[in-house]
Amino acid sequence: MAKPRVFVTREIFPEYIDQIREETDMELWPDELPPPRDVLLQKSKDVDGILCLLTDKIDPEFMDNAGPQLKVISQIAVGFDNINIPEATKRGIPVGNTPEVLTQTTADAAWALMLAAGRRVGESERAVHAGNWRTWHPLHYLGQDVYGATLGIIGMGRIGFEVAKRSVGFNMKVLYHDIVRREDFEAELPMEYVDMDTLLARSDFVSLHTVLNDATYHLIDAEALAKMKSTAVLVNAARGPVIDPKALYKALKSGQITAAGLDVTEPEPIPLDDPLLTLENCVIVPHIASASVATRREMSRIAATNLLNGIKGERLLTCVNPEVYD
Ligand code: GLV
Repeated sequence: MAKPRVFVTREIFPEYIDQIREETDMELWPDELPPPRDVLLQKSKDVDGILCLLTDKIDPEFMDNAGPQLKVISQIAVGFDNINIPEATKRGIPVGNTPEVLTQTTADAAWALMLAAGRRVGESERAVHAGNWRTWHPLHYLGQDVYGATLGIIGMGRIGFEVAKRSVGFNMKVLYHDIVRREDFEAELPMEYVDMDTLLARSDFVSLHTVLNDATYHLIDAEALAKMKSTAVLVNAARGPVIDPKALYKALKSGQITAAGLDVTEPEPIPLDDPLLTLENCVIVPHIASASVATRREMSRIAATNLLNGIKGERLLTCVNPEVYD
């Protein structure tokens, strides 16, 4: 019997590529960059499953083109805003993601950005490389204290909560906002549930941990930035479009807020002529929040298992639309 056909849109940890190759007729896109749209469609025609990334758009056109035999969409990421979930559900296709295993690593990364942006690490490191470390000066590179500051978390899910927990060692007060109050989390850690305006006005550090949807698109716009302290630091390890980048540029340039740390941008990758790249007070890293060896290995394992389970008609380890099993 012919093996099921699958398309894997990027290299993952080799042991899991080997496993997929053993059990399927696999085509692997070997390039560093995503397959162009026409290639994605062509390679996915008549496949039983796809292992994809957040850079691959999985929409109705993709699903029509793949064909009715498509049994699983396995994404190697926790977020899935690149996938049209209602369409997949309508067609009975389970969609897998890789939650939990990247929670701690992503929370660490948000902290790295908070500390780097607050204490001007990017700017001062660039200065050392440029030969500008001339002396110790009492007034050089003065940043914001993290210890004892107020941390405002927007989006109190798994990652937001882990970011909050790390604040204990820094003796911070934690405020949070989400569409639902998390009394379960509050029982574990003292945190104050506040509305957005209060959070923006009172926080020294604002860290974003929401999903991207219509309600969170440009949630941090000019109006929101105007409500923040002039000493505030904004961190985004969620999705780029949660912040309006033009408004952020203006706020950072004018000193309306003091600094930002971004793991994600709009668009991605950020073009070299983006004005945010001209600012010393904006630390930008290339969407690396889950990029630790152990975490990316676990994400590879889960994505491969979801793919293989899906093509066999078995339940995925982690499914974002479990209603397909009803
Ligand atoms: C990365 O951004 C992810 O959603 O896992």
